Amino acid sequence: MTDPATMQDDPQRLAAFEAKIAAGDRIEAGEWMPQQYRFECLRLIQMHANSELMGALPEREWIPRAPTLSRKMALLAKVQDEVGHAQLLYRVAEDLGKPRQQMIEELLAGKSKFHNVFHYPAETWADVAVIQVFVDGAAMQTQGSLRSCSYAPYARVLKRICYEEDFHIRLGIDVHKTLAEGTPRQREMLQNAIDRWWQPIMHFFGPRDQASPHLETMMRWRIKVKTNDELRQQFLRQFVPLITDYGLRLPDPGLRWDEAGGRYEYSEPDWEEFKRVIRGAVLLPWVIPTALSTLGWWWMFNSLYSVVNWTGIALGIMDPPGPNWLGQKYYAMTAVVTVNIWRGLPFFAITMLAGLVSIPKELYEAAEADGAGRVARFWHVTLPMLKPVLAIVILFSTIFTFSDFNIVYVLTHGGPINSTHLFATLARQIGLESGQIGQGAAISLYLFPVLMIVVFAQLRFVRKQAY
Ligand SMILES: [Fe+2]
Ligand SMILES: [Fe+2]
Repeated sequence: MTDPATMQDDPQRLAAFEAKIAAGDRIEAGEWMPQQYRFECLRLIQMHANSELMGALPEREWIPRAPTLSRKMALLAKVQDEVGHAQLLYRVAEDLGKPRQQMIEELLAGKSKFHNVFHYPAETWADVAVIQVFVDGAAMQTQGSLRSCSYAPYARVLKRICYEEDFHIRLGIDVHKTLAEGTPRQREMLQNAIDRWWQPIMHFFGPRDQASPHLETMMRWRIKVKTNDELRQQFLRQFVPLITDYGLRLPDPGLRWDEAGGRYEYSEPDWEEFKRVIRGAVLLPWVIPTALSTLGWWWMFNSLYSVVNWTGIALGIMDPPGPNWLGQKYYAMTAVVTVNIWRGLPFFAITMLAGLVSIPKELYEAAEADGAGRVARFWHVTLPMLKPVLAIVILFSTIFTFSDFNIVYVLTHGGPINSTHLFATLARQIGLESGQIGQGAAISLYLFPVLMIVVFAQLRFVRKQAY
């Protein structure tokens, strides 16, 4: 009976566990727990530990630049606290079955997450105040509520952490007060920092509550004690006065106290930005100017010192001197296609990823319950749900590829013997180099009606899919 899967299926143990939680008791590390419970606790605590560690980094930058000795000492102590919190939390997570080394490696490899607010830099000294008051203040809502969670080691460690976090917030309020009551320039710096941090802080609490079976289980097992909305409202009630009482501007024009509802109204933060921040690094090839990166490729395919040929020859798969990539018709076309695929890939990947994560998990669960295997789930759930996204991606990449200029111009100039031209490069050659302006203009406009028909057809398709 040591296999966790069979232990989890034991209905008697599960019933005893649920009864224990319902009675308000706590679970210790060595006790029996459902696999799902262990998994959710580990995920929560690992992310918390990562966030403490990553949160120390932007603040650390300000230790040498803090304005006075006492501010420097306070900040130094705070940063040390945060690293200490990470240590404590990794220790607690370790008991749930994942080695510390593995958690650190996952963090460094970008495989495990940390809270969105710790992805932003601290640009000015006022950012330090805003982080200490509002970011720690936001984190404190969740952590404070979890002191009564059902997993005993986490609840114990949170008592100590919250005690120190409370101290951070007090120190932060002191810096906040000094800046808010200071010179116009200090006030402006503070206002600016509040404006920049507001949206990430609103993101921090997650989307508005929706009825989901997942949330229900988390609340029943007391791994989550308060919902996103409850925590956000609690934060607003506590911290909005720190902005208004000092005569600073509220960063959200839609933010106001609703007397009748007894809650704050606020504008919905931009959730796309939230996703972008968390997935930022994947877009590198997409954001480097094409002409510059294509110059790199041009060098790699160059007939005299091509690294592609050098590598091929060294590996014994090409005979020296290797193909003249940019000087022969089919090779030149291969080169252009390769570079275009390389350039388009991140856009495809990120858009498809966005499409994939928006497919509700319940559909897969339902399909699985109906006995659908991997292949069937792909054909009947993933593909139909992805269709609109696929249509848009194909539309965009068709337009980008046909109307591209940079890649062909830098790599081949349309040659050899006009074999790799696109409309834009041909139009340039005929219109500007040969001086036949009329013909050049006609070529560059040729694609317009064709693309219009394609766009029209695809948008119709997408609309049909949406309703
Ligand atoms: Fe902390
Ligand atoms: Fe803190």
